[in-house]
Amino acid sequence: MKIYSYKFLLVSGLMAIGSVAFSQSPLYKNKSASIPSRVQDLLKRMTLEEKVLQLSQLSFGNNTNANNIGNKVKNIPAGIGSLIYNSDNPVYRNQMQKKAMEETRLGIPILFGNDVIHGLRTVYPISLAQACSWNPQLVQQACAMAAKESKLAGIDWTFSPMIDVARDGRWGRISEGYGEDPYTNAVFGVASVKGYQGNHLSDSFSIAACLKHYVGYGASEGGRDYSYTEISQQTLWDTYLPPFEACVKAGAATLMSSFNDISGVPSSANHYTLTEILKDKWKHQGFVVSDWNAVEQLINQGVAANRKEAGYKAFNAGVDMDMVDKIYIENMPQLLAEKKITQAKIDDAVSRVLHLKFQLGLFDKPFATVLEENERVLLPASRKLAQDLASESIVLLKNKQQMLPIKSNIKSVALIGPMVKDRSNIMGSWAFDSKDEDAETIWEGFGKVFANQVAFNYAKGCDFDSTDESGFQAGIEQANQSDLVIVCLGEKKKWSGENGSRSTLALPAIQEKLVMELKKSGKPIVLVLSSGRPLELVRLEPLADAIVNLWQPGVQGGSALADIVKGNVNPSGKLAVTFPLTTGQIPTYYNMRPNSRTNTQGNYKDISTAPLYWFGHGLSYTTYQYDSVKISATKVKKNEKIVAEVTVSNTGKVSGKETVLWFISNPACSISRPMKELKYFEKKEIAAGGKATYKFEIDPMRDLSFVDATGKKFLESGSYFLLVGGQKVKIEIE
Ligand code: GLC
Repeated sequence: MKIYSYKFLLVSGLMAIGSVAFSQSPLYKNKSASIPSRVQDLLKRMTLEEKVLQLSQLSFGNNTNANNIGNKVKNIPAGIGSLIYNSDNPVYRNQMQKKAMEETRLGIPILFGNDVIHGLRTVYPISLAQACSWNPQLVQQACAMAAKESKLAGIDWTFSPMIDVARDGRWGRISEGYGEDPYTNAVFGVASVKGYQGNHLSDSFSIAACLKHYVGYGASEGGRDYSYTEISQQTLWDTYLPPFEACVKAGAATLMSSFNDISGVPSSANHYTLTEILKDKWKHQGFVVSDWNAVEQLINQGVAANRKEAGYKAFNAGVDMDMVDKIYIENMPQLLAEKKITQAKIDDAVSRVLHLKFQLGLFDKPFATVLEENERVLLPASRKLAQDLASESIVLLKNKQQMLPIKSNIKSVALIGPMVKDRSNIMGSWAFDSKDEDAETIWEGFGKVFANQVAFNYAKGCDFDSTDESGFQAGIEQANQSDLVIVCLGEKKKWSGENGSRSTLALPAIQEKLVMELKKSGKPIVLVLSSGRPLELVRLEPLADAIVNLWQPGVQGGSALADIVKGNVNPSGKLAVTFPLTTGQIPTYYNMRPNSRTNTQGNYKDISTAPLYWFGHGLSYTTYQYDSVKISATKVKKNEKIVAEVTVSNTGKVSGKETVLWFISNPACSISRPMKELKYFEKKEIAAGGKATYKFEIDPMRDLSFVDATGKKFLESGSYFLLVGGQKVKIEIE
């Protein structure tokens, strides 16, 4: 008999115990196993109750969003699938996560989500402003910075980007998306997804994106939030779906179903959009979370008699996770027993949620890294990024006789208006985790940038929307003793964003009257506007020598504006949304379909029919000269490409960043198409006296095709036009 050494026996015994122990460690906890195998292993171990909890999201912490009404949930179950994390402190998250990992049978980590819309603590410009920068690379960087701040705050998932095409400025949420054009929303949505999600969701500072609000929310009737939307199947496909399709293809992890009713079928109970399009046609592998209480709101919308019916209608349509109304928790077991929903569909939804948690690495690293606040928020590089994006988002709308930048003979400037020393509204409507003291005011920015080169005189002049004119006199006095008057007007941040509908785009009368009074001083007037929507300027425009659209620029807006007024920065923003002349013109947008009469018949008889500023409008301190467009071919087959080029010269005295917008039109098609459609854009810096060549490689199937009411793209032979820099070039497709 072979004598085995004591050591050999000991090692063998340990290995045997180890292998037994190892074989009892479940596969789903094995980091080296594939995600699908870990999902399947975990799924088959779960009870129905555990599965239902994974399909539910509750609000956690101090919810400061007044629009999200709901009772604070006590005793949150440790097995909950997701929590809305109302905090920017990672410690609370880790405390709750510890419960999930240690006090539940399977230790499934919680997914913490929050609305990081345009920054967490380092707030950068609202999305509508970002689109006016025409700089998706910079937006991607800003979203990556926001993702890092969020991850270090304990957030794994942001309910962003919002990519709702919107053409009615009365709708306050126009501030949250990227304007009136589908292609613009697609490009900036993709840039945001890439910024948030990084190269891999498991990267240290990646967070999951959530495309919202799926779909058609921007068509809210009358601009009234939460209202009905009348959207034809054709318009659904050619206007509202394209940004979502682009972002799904870019790998967005999740989507959020919207509040609106789409022509009789609410979005959150719409099997066609949620399942047939999103999951069957686009093969989306992630999951859909409802908007806040949107499942329960199906009762208000008249398609469910009670919570239980709302639950199965939403779930069967394709809403995988229920946000805060607890309908899935309370009704799913009964609905399954009654065969109103199936086990297969429950398992599919749970698999989607678990899949994302594994992709994010939550099972292997469930806890957030805890750093001191000053090591993770408002870092100098983050503030610089916020200021750069604000600078490129500002749009110079008017500049009569080159009033701006301020000339050397200007020695004193009156800074007047409710926005001058405001540090709250400048942050915009989705900055719940920011602190007003983080923001730099316009007054502080001017003081920093001009550094005593100019004497600044201040008067508030009036409030945002009172009727009290007693402040006018101080404003007039400051104007009288200054060489130039800069009037800083605007909106309160709650006037836009969610539940921020207004019947008019005009600023309150008190603000307009202040400008009229200041005009009497005879001094040149620069109007600075801070808003979350396009404004009605029909009465203000004639009073101003220059108009600067600041939007809501975030923490560094003051310096960004001052740099432009001083001329340190040459404004490069262009509007991503049309400014109607008056509210009565709504809807008016650049890509409308043509009228049946091409003369002035049909125009308004009381005012001009043309808007004040079209989509794409934006002035510079320099001038650009577009050479004739060069095109590689004017007639091609459908599968052949065309290369179009245009050289732009900077014929002025200062360098500038010029965005070239390439449009197409198809005047004769089997269905009427928009008068023109943006298909590509590029922004480049051009030195004074220099030139740059911009190239658009046209793929007819991608760039000239259209989509029909079934979502089928088609490219017809015939004539098309390429439109760029005021030029129109004919292209024939054989
Ligand atoms: C809100 C908004 C949505 C947000 C969600 C969570 O009602 O509609 O945009 O992401 O609830 O806060």
